Amino acid sequence: MCGIIGYTGNKPAAPVLTKGLHALEYRGYDSAGIAVCGSEIVTVKAVGRISALEEKLRGRDLPEVCGIGHTRWATHGCPTEINCHPHLSYGGKFAIVHNGIIDNCRNLRVLCENRGISLKSDTDSELIAHLLEWEYRGDPLACLSRVAADLRGSFALGVLCADFPSDIYAAKMRSPLIIGLGEDMACISSDGTAMPKEVTSLIVLADGQVARVRPGSAEVFFRGRRVEPERVKCSSPEIAAALSGFPHYMLKEMYEQPEALARTVTEDCLGRPYLRRNVTLIGCGSSYHAALASKPLVERITGCSAEVCLASEFIYSEKTVGRGKQAVFLSQSGETADTIAAAEEAKRRGYLTLAVSNVHSSTLTRVCDEKFCTRAGPEISVATTKGFTTQVGALGVLASRNDEIAAALKELPFAAEKALAVEVGEVAKLIAKSVNPFFIGRKADYGAALEGALKLKEISYISALGIAAGELKHGSISLIEKGTPVVVVSTDEALGEKTLLSMATVRARGGTVIAVTNIDEVAQAADFVLPLPNVHPLLSAAVSVIPLQRLAYEAALLLGKDIDKPRNLAKSVTVE
Ligand code: F6R
Repeated sequence: MCGIIGYTGNKPAAPVLTKGLHALEYRGYDSAGIAVCGSEIVTVKAVGRISALEEKLRGRDLPEVCGIGHTRWATHGCPTEINCHPHLSYGGKFAIVHNGIIDNCRNLRVLCENRGISLKSDTDSELIAHLLEWEYRGDPLACLSRVAADLRGSFALGVLCADFPSDIYAAKMRSPLIIGLGEDMACISSDGTAMPKEVTSLIVLADGQVARVRPGSAEVFFRGRRVEPERVKCSSPEIAAALSGFPHYMLKEMYEQPEALARTVTEDCLGRPYLRRNVTLIGCGSSYHAALASKPLVERITGCSAEVCLASEFIYSEKTVGRGKQAVFLSQSGETADTIAAAEEAKRRGYLTLAVSNVHSSTLTRVCDEKFCTRAGPEISVATTKGFTTQVGALGVLASRNDEIAAALKELPFAAEKALAVEVGEVAKLIAKSVNPFFIGRKADYGAALEGALKLKEISYISALGIAAGELKHGSISLIEKGTPVVVVSTDEALGEKTLLSMATVRARGGTVIAVTNIDEVAQAADFVLPLPNVHPLLSAAVSVIPLQRLAYEAALLLGKDIDKPRNLAKSVTVE
């Protein structure tokens, strides 16, 4: 999705910026632009590829050595030049690039209009430029701090001010932004891949921080006070770039989910396999959970009941005959021995086999008759995140001959972006101290609940219990005592009554209910809420799982665990 780059140094900025924008292309975009700062700010923008922007820049004399650039993936407003970043403020004093979504943009729009500022674009981002100029009293950093404090939602911001032509100002809240420093140069970027090679150290901005970036230096502030951020030396530039400034691959990959989903759900439809009438979904671990979470969707589309089976158990179901049936194998790696063995067995029994894998030429895709590739990009973290969400997205694509699902799929990346902004800190503290937390849900939420419990177990070593909400009363409820956290995933309004009943049962025994929900009544009845954006209940696991991943991550961090290298686990399980 959107990408940000900024450069200040001793070379003309425009070519450095376009090079950085090329490196950000993989994030997906539909327009791009740059702004450079001299005695005034000049912007150049183009819809479409970066080559279109380069075409416009050809022959322009732009000697300015400081600038910002942006690749835009349209959210508020179509991909037009007017909506394209950088946005200029009404008097031309400021230019901004923004990655994220401003939740209170409606109020801010009214505020600007009441001040007589006429808005040019349909974007939420343009407002930020105007607010900056309105607040400006000669100190861009102070006014950026004030404006950032009024923004709700997620943002990574790069800002130019015409009065300080070699400075870049930056602010961050829930969208990634890193600062790169080298001799006589500095830059900002959404990730390390776009950093120029002169960069020798990195600063990862934290939520709530603002920064003034000058050639060779950066000052970082939090709530008006100067802070000394940690600088990571790029002695191993590849690692720094690969981690893009994130402390862990798991966190980086969580943040990649909106883009990974966008790539997966727009995968070329031509010649794509489709779901038949009798489907069995098969996988291991998280892939099995993605299958469980997708069962209701598959049943809605095929009009038949679908089976979900653990790959390691499938081979023992002796009497099944596969003729006229389809077996769909889910595997991020495509190299999981249990899944490959199950696919081989399914072929022997006469099933039509379909591999859904993130690795296009894996053993599994070669074994199966048909394949559909998720487009999550390489997943390095042992605990899968984008592997799971793109599998749910992929099954949505296979089911997208239904118009309602096809429309809901397009919304998934945006909903995932919003889910990334959900604040889990308080709940993570509670979970990190807990024994036997529960994760419960029904239908698609059941798969998401199991995945939430697995994430927690894998990286924090807390013995979490994932269970179908209706099963709680059949035994496991005996474990609930005062303070036991019960995470309730609830995205299906039609099941609201039953969810409320489960929550009441838990609370009656002293349990603490944490609702992961977009349903008001459910939220009101909970002790803690992780609020979800609206999402189709048959695709919801791709979104509801995101705060659960974050919860596991934050809890493991609090417990000081080695998040990217959890004990006893391997990324690819190639033994049966
Ligand atoms: C959990 C996890 C595992 C895998 C499982 C299957 O975070 O990563 O449970 O989901 O080993 O792996 P794939 O999808 O590669 O077949």
